[in-house]
Amino acid sequence: TDLYCVMGNPVAHSRSPWIHARFAQLTQQPLVYQRRLVPLNGFAADLQQLLQSGGKGCNITVPFKLDAAQAAHSRSPRVALAGAANTLVIGADGHIHADNTDGLGLVADITRNAGVAIAGKAILLVGAGGAAAGVLGPLLEQQPRQVVVCNRTFHKAQALVDAHATLAQSQKVELLAQEQQGLSGSFDIIINGTAASLQGAGIPVPASVLRPGSLAYDMMYGQAAQPFLDWAQQHGAVGRDGLGMLVEQAAESFALWRGVRPPSQQVLQELRAVLA
Ligand code: ATR
Repeated sequence: TDLYCVMGNPVAHSRSPWIHARFAQLTQQPLVYQRRLVPLNGFAADLQQLLQSGGKGCNITVPFKLDAAQAAHSRSPRVALAGAANTLVIGADGHIHADNTDGLGLVADITRNAGVAIAGKAILLVGAGGAAAGVLGPLLEQQPRQVVVCNRTFHKAQALVDAHATLAQSQKVELLAQEQQGLSGSFDIIINGTAASLQGAGIPVPASVLRPGSLAYDMMYGQAAQPFLDWAQQHGAVGRDGLGMLVEQAAESFALWRGVRPPSQQVLQELRAVLA
């Protein structure tokens, strides 16, 4: 039986152990997946401990995604772009490879589960922290027409755009940063990657960014996503929370570790029923 875990702080509410246990059951993979609360200054030590207990991999959540990218021996191009990793793959020789499946999960949830194409669309990405950085590359690879990044702190949006300029150019996507105040234009898909709702700060962008039928996607789920979903509905847009992204990023990690693709749509349905 192979050992995996999710490392984070806090981690008590993580649904990853449930999701991976279900994936393992449905694909008959012999693995256990634990939850590990890591002290804020203890990531490197806990990763060593995982290696010593024969761990084969882990997921990384807040606030260790940058530490994980740095601790690894090798990094996928996605990690290099985002500067953050949510998945570590540990080889038999102890080699640690870092990947980031958050963006693939978001893209899979939007295109497959919500049935909304990204190619050719105008997209607004709100936020420029770790969550937003992790998804910009995979979004660009879908070849939308345009991606606008806005953030409360403008220079962080500009830095994120600058870091992705070469990729955007090769994908023929117009990529630009805009000030959150005075944001103009409307978009087919609006993605909220900010922590604003956790702070009860309201919606960080004006409703004029929405068109009737726009997809308004919050990377969070549960209570944290509710204000954004309510706002979307009030303005004629289609709200969607990040539960599908959570399950799909887990599926991508599972596939990296096991070489087997789990039935993620079934598990998403089951998880929604569990949480309802
Ligand atoms: P995460 O890893 O979840 O992305 P983060 O890196 O701390 O966390 O980023 C948080 C994001 O939410 C940032 O884009 C942040 O904006 P700033 O760069 O200006 O800090 C955004 N954010 C947090 N609180 C916010 C608020 N009250 N209003 C608007 N944006 C907020």
